[in-house]
This record gives sequence, structure tokens and C-alpha cells, in this order.
Amino acid sequence: MKITFLGHASLLIEAENAAILVDPFISGNEKASGKIDINDLHPDYILVTHAHQDHILDVEAIAKANGAVVVSNFEIATHYEALGIKAHPMNHGGNWEFDFGNLKYVNAIHTSSFPDGSYGGVPGGFVLSTEGKHLYIAGDTALTMDMKLIPLTTALDLAILPIGDNFTMGIDDAVLASNFVACNTVLGYHYDTFGYIEIDHKMAMDKFRKAGKKLHLLNIGASLTI
Ligand code: NI
Ligand code: MN
Repeated sequence: MKITFLGHASLLIEAENAAILVDPFISGNEKASGKIDINDLHPDYILVTHAHQDHILDVEAIAKANGAVVVSNFEIATHYEALGIKAHPMNHGGNWEFDFGNLKYVNAIHTSSFPDGSYGGVPGGFVLSTEGKHLYIAGDTALTMDMKLIPLTTALDLAILPIGDNFTMGIDDAVLASNFVACNTVLGYHYDTFGYIEIDHKMAMDKFRKAGKKLHLLNIGASLTI
């Protein structure tokens, strides 16, 4: 499974049977401009963790251009279905077996209104299992004890955690989160996009290294394979 960082909290996950886009916020991200073109993205599925603009900006355009299926909480899935987009609704604690593997929608501590203020359900994250590998996409979240539930059922190969602070966990809490989910390999996201979430990369790398963990911070467009 190849995971490409598209900036902010946007990811492209290429599994054997499907291309899975996560939280596309690309056309409005100055840091991604000139590096990622949404017209080059051809996902089969788009996972949406919550309804904030910095996670859904390009969902409609990319879904319509590719006939992609939006997978999200019930309220967000219903929102996109009303726009003529295929959608698969989930809710917390639920699993579904897709053609690419299993997804579980898990708890996140955050908020989830659409840009116009309408209700975007309760935010979440995803546990993705495909090709014998298990990946946690935390979404925007605080550190929460609920993370301790994940390793009771799933031995993660990679945890994708927000580390930018202010709107989500910061670095110190993300180190604790990696303990909670029992995963020593972390991909950081949701940092540096704008002033509130700028981080010191060296400090972040050092803190994870001192905890005996590996933090990956990818350039926009760069990938890692698990
Ligand atoms: Ni958010
Ligand atoms: Mn966000």
C-alpha cells in the first residue's frame, strides 16, 4: 500500500484494488499549488473524516469527475448524495467490507460543521485494513482515551496523526496517541498549512525518536509504502 501526502490532511492511498483519497483540500492550499493538480487524481473512493472546509474543499469536484464513492459519517454521506454523488454512510464503531478491504469509522474529538454552518455529523477517523496491513487515519482530533480501543482489535502498521496543535493534538499528545494505538510508525499531518499550525520539524522528529518511534514528515507529493 502506497500513501502519498497531498498537503495538509489530504492523502492518496493506492491499494491493489482501489485508489482511495482522504480529505482533499488541495486547490485552496497554497502549499500544494504547482505540486498537486486535482485533475490528476482519479480515486475510486474518497474518505471524509469531517465536514470542515480544510477537509472537503475538493470532494465534490473530484467525486463528480471520477464517479468516486464518498465514505463518511451519515450526515456527510447524505449531503453528497443530494449532490448526485455516490456515497457510503457509516457511523462510529461500524465496519464495512469494501472491495479494497475493511474500513472502520472510529471516534475523534473535534467538531464537524459544513462551511455554511450546517450540521456535518460527528467527526471521526478511519481504520483501514487492506493487503494484510492496517492503517489508522486519525482525522482532526484531540488525544482521546478512545484511541486505546484500536489495538484491542487491530495491530496497526502505521498511524497517521495530526500534529499541528491549536485545532488538534500537538506533538507531545501525538507521541502519547501513538502509545495509545500501540504503533511506533507515525505519519504526521495537519501541520504547517497556515500560521496556527506551524511546527518545528526537528523538535517533532526528536520527540518521537526519544520515545522510540519513527515520525515521517513527507514533502507534498512524496510517498511512503507499508
Ligand atoms: Ni477540522
Ligand atoms: Mn482540519
